[in-house]
Amino acid sequence: MGVGYMGIATALAFARRGRRVFAYDVNPRVRSRLRAGRSPYHEEGLEELLRAEVRRRRFVVVDTVQELSASAQCIFLCLPTPAGRLGRIDLSPLRRAVRELGGALRRVHGYRLVVVKSTVVPGTTESIVEPLLRRTSGRGVDLLGVATNPEFLAEGRMVQDALHPERVVVGVSDARSLRWLAAVYKGFGAPLFQLSPSGAELVKYGSNSFLALKVSFANEISRWTEVLGSNIDDVVRALGADPRIGPTFLRAGPGFGGSCFEKDLRAFRTRAEELGVPACAADAALAINQEQTEHVSELIQSAAGRLKGRTVAVLGLAFKAGTDDVRESRAFPIVERLVRDGARVRVHDPVALRNFRREWNGGVGRSLPGVRFATSAAGALRGADLAVLQADWPQYLEWPSRWSQAMRTPLVVDLRRALSPAAQERAGLRVLALGVGGGARGARPGSPRASSSRRS
Ligand code: UDX
Repeated sequence: MGVGYMGIATALAFARRGRRVFAYDVNPRVRSRLRAGRSPYHEEGLEELLRAEVRRRRFVVVDTVQELSASAQCIFLCLPTPAGRLGRIDLSPLRRAVRELGGALRRVHGYRLVVVKSTVVPGTTESIVEPLLRRTSGRGVDLLGVATNPEFLAEGRMVQDALHPERVVVGVSDARSLRWLAAVYKGFGAPLFQLSPSGAELVKYGSNSFLALKVSFANEISRWTEVLGSNIDDVVRALGADPRIGPTFLRAGPGFGGSCFEKDLRAFRTRAEELGVPACAADAALAINQEQTEHVSELIQSAAGRLKGRTVAVLGLAFKAGTDDVRESRAFPIVERLVRDGARVRVHDPVALRNFRREWNGGVGRSLPGVRFATSAAGALRGADLAVLQADWPQYLEWPSRWSQAMRTPLVVDLRRALSPAAQERAGLRVLALGVGGGARGARPGSPRASSSRRS
């Protein structure tokens, strides 16, 4: 129930593993797209899997909650829990769905297991979802189980993550729910961790806080390497070789974005206040992220010398490469600051341009005109004094020399250290890379191309 990014990947993974999946989304457009085998999102491997499972009739879209609750024995709630007021998550979509499901369950026979897959702060399933569901459905424990099963899917690799989870975390309060969930996940080959519902909810927030903190930690250390004249990737490689630290999630960049980290950390902090427990780690991750975003703008400013009147191309608008999702993308504050500083900004993304344009025009962009939405990277770069690489889409990393030639000054601020020395050399680029000390010093826009240093 609820076919957003997470709902669809989860549903199709179950279908691929041989379960019969019924899917319901409140949005009729989403339902008809899905039925036609067209994915509502850009996500690697999703559309192929969708088509195959629609054809096999293992993935069936239904038009009512009544039909869903009559057909499915185990119902996963995959509703969004967006940022709400005062750092809390907004539970209204979930509450609405639960009420509707509860009403529908009154007219259904047999035991049902309802599983909260949406990200909800610790305590929500037991104190809000379960009582609401029991009240609206009129069902006791003999006819209704309520459990939680957080997801850990990362965008861009959702299909892989859903098909091959590293762990399955279930929050259950009775043996029957556990048996059912274990059966649903049979064949996934992942270890199953059984906790209480609030324990499972805590695993989700703990995971995201820890991961966000790891990214922020790398970002903080990258400030050191910039000042000390070393390279963050070299430092992190050595740091991460210690198995207690591990090499992953330590790639410094413009700061984390995405639909989860910022929202979850804020909600976690607010929940911590309610419970009277500390959330210093989440606080630190958020503070460093904010600081990093400001630092990125300073880095761009230092590369440009001055921004007023300069033409700046921002490449990559998604919150990371591999997705069309722009939620909390660092591209927003970067572009906003550039426009405020008087630059002419052109933006490009291979798949997220439309989403970015919609969000921008519907938000801060309403009062900040002047951003041009380019449909090709070459178009964005034509006549640019400076380019900013915000998301490292593979097509940018090729960087043909005609792109550099089309720029007024072939200067790039590489926020992901993604442009290889070979590509820089080939394209005659000067690169100022985040986290790398002594970057393209002296490479100021306006300096003639012929004199461009080939070293980064
Ligand atoms: C994340 C979690 O990984 C996933 O388990 C959870 O279910 C939802 O939130 P996602 O938001 O898709 O997934 O993105 P992720 O790949 O985790 O990246 C989040 C942000 O951190 C991105 O902006 C990314 O660019 C940034 N990041 C990530 C870094 O800057 N460096 C890294 O090393 C890793």
